[in-house]
Amino acid sequence: MKIGVFDSGVGGQSVANAIAKALPEHQVELREDHEHIPYGIRQPAEILGFVVPILQSMVDDGCAVIVVACNTVSTTLIDKLRQEFSIPLIAMEPMVKPAAAMTKTGVIAVCATPTTLASERYRQLKADYAIDVQVLEPDCSDWAGMIEHHQVDSRKLAERIQEVLDQSADVIVLGCTHYHWIEDDIKALIAGRATVIQPEQAVIAQLRRVLGQLP
Ligand code: DGL
Repeated sequence: MKIGVFDSGVGGQSVANAIAKALPEHQVELREDHEHIPYGIRQPAEILGFVVPILQSMVDDGCAVIVVACNTVSTTLIDKLRQEFSIPLIAMEPMVKPAAAMTKTGVIAVCATPTTLASERYRQLKADYAIDVQVLEPDCSDWAGMIEHHQVDSRKLAERIQEVLDQSADVIVLGCTHYHWIEDDIKALIAGRATVIQPEQAVIAQLRRVLGQLP
């Protein structure tokens, strides 16, 4: 079957690679929106105008399911997109629930774009699952651009990570698929002092369930 994977940029490639590895019997079709990246500093209404035609082209190309491999789009627009499209759309959003369940210090850090952090869905995730947990939101507003253009500033990254470690965060959530590309760098900086989590494997499990239900 044809699985569509969509993101504003290179975050989609990381998710597409993981899906292709886990489900080699299926075909993966990746779309990015280089013209409009970064999404994470834009308003949802503007992003919706970019995303609808791209998803439509994937449906027209025969995708049976689309993974919205973008936390920014998933947390702000997934309900609207599900009304618009009849094929299953799989969303990716910050793993607040597992992080809150894992933390021993009672402090987690969510690294995500400004638009994701401002979304109602993210607010709801915190209200539902992290009411007793302190949630740090380091400024990652320039990370997606940095990663997209292969210009990761190691010093800045180290500062951000040190800040959350200094505040006792023991779980760090990668809430933007672009950040999957620097997961190993972050783990190296942390050197075992915290756990880094991201939703690729959970999304693959959900994808398997959805594919199993398709006619
Ligand atoms: N990769 C996207 C996400 O997961 C956002 C990158 C961007 O700002 O365009 O949120």
